[in-house]
Amino acid sequence: MPLKLTLYPDPILRQVAPPVKKINRELLERVDEMFEIMYEHKGIGLAAPQVSWSTRLFVVNTTGDPEEGEERVYINPSIIESSGDVSMEEGCLSIPEVRGKVKRPEVITVRAQNLEGEWFEEEVDDMLARVIQHELDHLDGILFIQRLRATDRLLIKKALAKLKKDASE
Ligand code: CO
Repeated sequence: MPLKLTLYPDPILRQVAPPVKKINRELLERVDEMFEIMYEHKGIGLAAPQVSWSTRLFVVNTTGDPEEGEERVYINPSIIESSGDVSMEEGCLSIPEVRGKVKRPEVITVRAQNLEGEWFEEEVDDMLARVIQHELDHLDGILFIQRLRATDRLLIKKALAKLKKDASE
């Protein structure tokens, strides 16, 4: 069955995803599908739970363009160092048309496995650091709307109620 985008308030988006144990052909095919879905919806990052696949991996291309930038895959990722604080507007493919400012560390060191199963570490900042933190949150069942300031959360209340209503119809 082809993967498809999972929308708020699907409960899978609130689950903590278990680690990837085996990098096999099925996983590689699903990762390709995730990139396709991400580009189709004009995203720059997509986590496995967003396609109803509860496992610890996400894909990123900060250009959002299949012809440009770099396709990055993070398997079993964790953030091992972080510093600074920066506020940036975020959105999420699973929560269409909702945006808000979230404060997160500015520079992070992430450790993860690549598609060959090899562990790597990298220090990143700017947009890539932002996307990695947002996607890693998805693996822990955390949505960016939970990280908004209380006053900003009030502003999106209606939009969230509409998404809930759409999902129940
Ligand atoms: Co998201």
